[in-house]
Amino acid sequence: MASAPEPNKGLGYISNALTSPVTAAESALRPLSFDDFAGQAKTVERLKVMTDAARRRGDPLNHILISGPPGLGKTTLCFILGHEMGKNVRVTSGPVVEKAGDLAGLLTNLEEGDILFIDEIHRIPKAVEEYLYSAMEDFRLDIMIDQGPNARSVRLSIPKFTLVGATTRAGLLTAPLRSRFTLQTRLDYYGVPTLTGIIKRSCGLLGVRIEETGAREIAMRCRGTPRVANNLINFVRDYAQERTKTGVITREVAAAALELLEIDATGLDEMDKRMLRIIAENYRGGPVGMSTIAVAVGEESETLEEVHEPFLIQEGYLQRTPQGRMITPKGYHAIGLKAAVGAQDELL
Ligand SMILES: Nc1ncnc2c1ncn2[C@@H]1O[C@H](COP(=O)(O)OP(=O)(O)OP(=O)(O)O)[C@@H](O)[C@H]1O
Ligand SMILES: [Mg+2]
Repeated sequence: MASAPEPNKGLGYISNALTSPVTAAESALRPLSFDDFAGQAKTVERLKVMTDAARRRGDPLNHILISGPPGLGKTTLCFILGHEMGKNVRVTSGPVVEKAGDLAGLLTNLEEGDILFIDEIHRIPKAVEEYLYSAMEDFRLDIMIDQGPNARSVRLSIPKFTLVGATTRAGLLTAPLRSRFTLQTRLDYYGVPTLTGIIKRSCGLLGVRIEETGAREIAMRCRGTPRVANNLINFVRDYAQERTKTGVITREVAAAALELLEIDATGLDEMDKRMLRIIAENYRGGPVGMSTIAVAVGEESETLEEVHEPFLIQEGYLQRTPQGRMITPKGYHAIGLKAAVGAQDELL
């Protein structure tokens, strides 16, 4: 059934092991053009201006950095760029490019105008990052070969390529690297109307019957994230098939299925709620440091900062202060507790 986009669809799709956790189902739902890509109006407009201009001039696209929490469409946009430019997209990831030689191997295999997509670019080793500077700016690499008295530098010319970097943590990028991207653009969580549209599109592609109100119900509970929405559709579809006569996803069906997953009307997942509960119950609402929260909930603090915290802050469940994280009244409400009066005021 579902398969990865094929090169003959005009999308050069060269992948490596690191991108394989992306399932075939996810690839099937991935928009291939700007027209299919809902929301993120500012970012899309910026990218359209750049691709139109580059195409008209016959130039390669300038380097682009796309940041934002997981599942909002960074990889998708990169493939759309390749598609729009009619160029190949070669995919790698920051931690995989261990040595300058790895980078040289990737870059020298590109053709002019091709896109090198470096996912998790904030995790690229420092030593490799420095080589990237001249590659991005002057399209050359000065590589040291041999060691000791025989050491010498070899200059490699590389085709004019486009680097598209994706990161969940733009703040961890060094200033010199960041400044070499012509465009730095950030994706935000999606609103309910946009997600409703995305859900209806996905259901259409999957041949799943869904009512507008059913789509909206899923949209309200997917943490503003298209990837989560698509995952929820799969479960709700199974539920509709097995627990209803018609198999149609109505609002009631969607709500019942998501209750079964313990995804309540706030859309917060289990880890979101665990974080809030720890802060509220163990630390009187905070402030408490992220590393303490991480130990308490048994998760890496990096993951909490990349995946959970941005949503909790954007939606007003959590506050970030110089002393640490604090739960808000809305946060208390989400976990069924009353705000602890006074606990936070003492520190002000
Ligand atoms: N604007 C959108 N419209 C429709 N579907 C979208 C949109 N953005 C993302 N999706 C869907 O969500 C899925 C996840 O998107 P994608 O893989 O691009 O996220 P990402 O930002 O690269 O995440 P990660 O940081 O985990 O790599 C895609 O398969 C796609 O189907
Ligand atoms: Mg991605």
